[in-house]
Amino acid sequence: MILIIDFGSQFNQLIARRVRECHVDCPIESPAIGMDEIRKLNPEGIILSGGPSSIYEKGSPKIDKAVFDLNIPILGICYGMQFMVDALGGNVKNAKKREYGFAELTAKKATGLFKKVSRTTQTWMSHGDSIVKLPRGFTITASTRNTKIAAAANAKRKMYGLQFHPEVEHTLKGKTMLRNFLFDVCGCKRSWTMKSFARESIADIKALVDGKKVVLGLSGGVDSSVAALLIHKAVGKNLTCIFVDNGLLRKDEAQQLKKTLKQHLKMNIRFVSAKNKFLNPLAGITDPEKKRNIIGRVVMDVFEAEAKKIKDAEFLGQGTLYPDVIESVSAFGGPTSVIKSHHNVGGLPKKMKLKLVEPLRYLFKDDVRKLGSEIGLPEDLIWRQPFPGPGLAIRIIGEVTRSRLAILRDVDAVLLEEIRQNGYYRKLWQSFAVLLPIKSVGIMGDSRTYENIVAIRAVTSRDAMTADWARLPHQLLGKMSNRIINEVRGVNRVVYDISSKPPSTIEWE
Ligand code: XMP
Repeated sequence: MILIIDFGSQFNQLIARRVRECHVDCPIESPAIGMDEIRKLNPEGIILSGGPSSIYEKGSPKIDKAVFDLNIPILGICYGMQFMVDALGGNVKNAKKREYGFAELTAKKATGLFKKVSRTTQTWMSHGDSIVKLPRGFTITASTRNTKIAAAANAKRKMYGLQFHPEVEHTLKGKTMLRNFLFDVCGCKRSWTMKSFARESIADIKALVDGKKVVLGLSGGVDSSVAALLIHKAVGKNLTCIFVDNGLLRKDEAQQLKKTLKQHLKMNIRFVSAKNKFLNPLAGITDPEKKRNIIGRVVMDVFEAEAKKIKDAEFLGQGTLYPDVIESVSAFGGPTSVIKSHHNVGGLPKKMKLKLVEPLRYLFKDDVRKLGSEIGLPEDLIWRQPFPGPGLAIRIIGEVTRSRLAILRDVDAVLLEEIRQNGYYRKLWQSFAVLLPIKSVGIMGDSRTYENIVAIRAVTSRDAMTADWARLPHQLLGKMSNRIINEVRGVNRVVYDISSKPPSTIEWE
């Protein structure tokens, strides 16, 4: 096992993900951890993570320097490397030039962490301070144009430092470097699996909840379903799930979901029908943020009212994923600007004084799907495309009315049928229709029409942080357009959205 010491970088969970991808377990601990505790954990290696601080800043995170005398291999990344260098007698200075972004790295030799890495390779840097003098016994192992000491090592003591981030995808050979550390330097064995993750999570939840009651909002999506099943395995009937039909779901979705959830998640689920509570206050509202705020508020009210019926509930289970966590925190710890208020989390716990259980907090969507499969969630739940909490309300540009909802539902149903039949449903991150607030002229039979326009949105993505428009075959696009215009009354034009994220977003509102 590898111990990761968390100096506060937003990429720490990515380090953990990369290590686990190599099937090595890696708990993350605070720098305040004691040396006895580390000895007890008995890790094969230690990774000192990056962090937003400068090592000279007051209050910057520090670990006991005795960690360097434990005789355990150490990899310092960015701040972690600077900390190690400083602690062992080297020198770190505030760099004149901050280095941020891509940098071409040239390794001195294809040994150590650079085994099986080409001599020059692309890396990703993000640092203000730079190392100017190495401690005794260390040598430079790689440089970039701006950073002479971009990597250094004391191979004899098995200490390695990388000024760049090997864990991010932009460092093309980062995984090879980490693998070299794990297997060549530390001698780790490949033993970590999703099965062991599931087993440990269930044990952790059991210990945390300790016989108390948990409530959880089920959306019908994979995240909340996996979280629910995992928590259910840990606490059994002490978990109550709440599913709210907000009237903003896709065609027949509420009934289908109810059936699937009942059939496959044999747990305590309360179904609440609250369509009018959502649709009435949305009347006349066209501003996207106002729509989101109204829906967010009503969700909270309905959920709170329902949760209150569960006596003595102390915990709130949530399917928050890692990208949800980092999208709300900037590189330097402050809040990023709110692009869209994702309301499905937040708010609730503070207001309801519930403690959080978030077993998926360190996972990405593809991990969650693997985990779901491991714990026995049915395929059709595991592979459901993500669907936003505010539902069709943010896919109807302009006012959300019952008749516009009906049009969008019918269009969306045709679109999904074609996507599924042609084998694209799982290949796409999301595919859906958007109803526009403008009309255009058309001709049907011999008559002039003046009807609605819908846009088709289909994207590929790994985690929704970036996305590309899907290059769907023209034939499929043509068929969808034809069927939509012919089968759905009130639509006479279909357009295809060819924008990527960024600069666009996946949803239109
Ligand atoms: P955007 O439009 O910001 O969406 O590129 C990124 C991903 O998030 C989904 N999304 C939401 N999910 N509540 C959710 O649960 C929301 O309020 C929300 N808004 C957007 C969106 O469908 C895409 O997968």
